Amino acid sequence: MHWLSRSTRCVIKSIPLWETSSAKGSTGNGDLSDLARIEETCDHPVDLFKTWHEERRRYKPNAPDACCLATTSKDCKVSARNVILREFDNDGFVILTDSRSRKIDDVENVPYAAMCYLWFYINDQGQKIMKQVRVEGVMKKLEREQFRHLYDREPLFCKIRSHLCEQGREVKWDELKQRHDEILDSVRRKENDLPMPEHFVGYKLFPSMMEFYFARDYLIADRILYRKDASNNSWEKHRIAA
Ligand SMILES: Cc1cc2nc3c(=O)[nH]c(=O)nc-3n(C[C@H](O)[C@H](O)[C@H](O)COP(=O)(O)O)c2cc1C
Repeated sequence: MHWLSRSTRCVIKSIPLWETSSAKGSTGNGDLSDLARIEETCDHPVDLFKTWHEERRRYKPNAPDACCLATTSKDCKVSARNVILREFDNDGFVILTDSRSRKIDDVENVPYAAMCYLWFYINDQGQKIMKQVRVEGVMKKLEREQFRHLYDREPLFCKIRSHLCEQGREVKWDELKQRHDEILDSVRRKENDLPMPEHFVGYKLFPSMMEFYFARDYLIADRILYRKDASNNSWEKHRIAA
């Protein structure tokens, strides 16, 4: 058989969550099945996001604030990649990127985008917490002054990357390394203070839908869906099946 035609099959072994020490059921009486429940009652979904985000940070302070961002091209091809959440407020979620990237080409043609956050940690009661937040809405480009403070606080290697790399372009490693070292050298000699490049851009996802998923140990998950009523900017909230 030709090596190219050999198929690779990788079966992922599932770990039964109910074998954890905390799996005693919500009543503590050893039930084999039960329902998880999202207890927080927030009228605004960003308040719930903030509560969950703070809890995740408490248990996993060193994990990156990453989410998967999905965009669609003008010829209807969907793509997804992880990005770092830089800032959020009641209006939406800010990311930073390169204006010459595929995602920005997508967003400039089709402004609808989706973010998906996955948070997994063990809390101080030993419970395995699994949370997901989905955000859908329209992405808009920010004015440079709205994200300059985010550029200013970037570490040196990120600033250098933004000067060095044209995201998505084919490169030769040796040439990139040489150019990198020249930039670093110019910074060390104080000849280059790495000003914010034109192609360094901030975009904000303004949500019209947010969905929260919560599961714990062996419990059947709970979901809360928020939809924005565009007529008065209020949010409707529904519990939906997992
Ligand atoms: C954890 C993680 C965080 C990332 N954060 C960013 C980010 O904040 N901005 C960004 O442009 N790319 C980020 N990237 C790289 C993107 O995933 C992606 O490779 C890049 O943006 C090019 O995507 P595009 O070609 O679809 O536009 C990150 C990658 C990882 C693994």
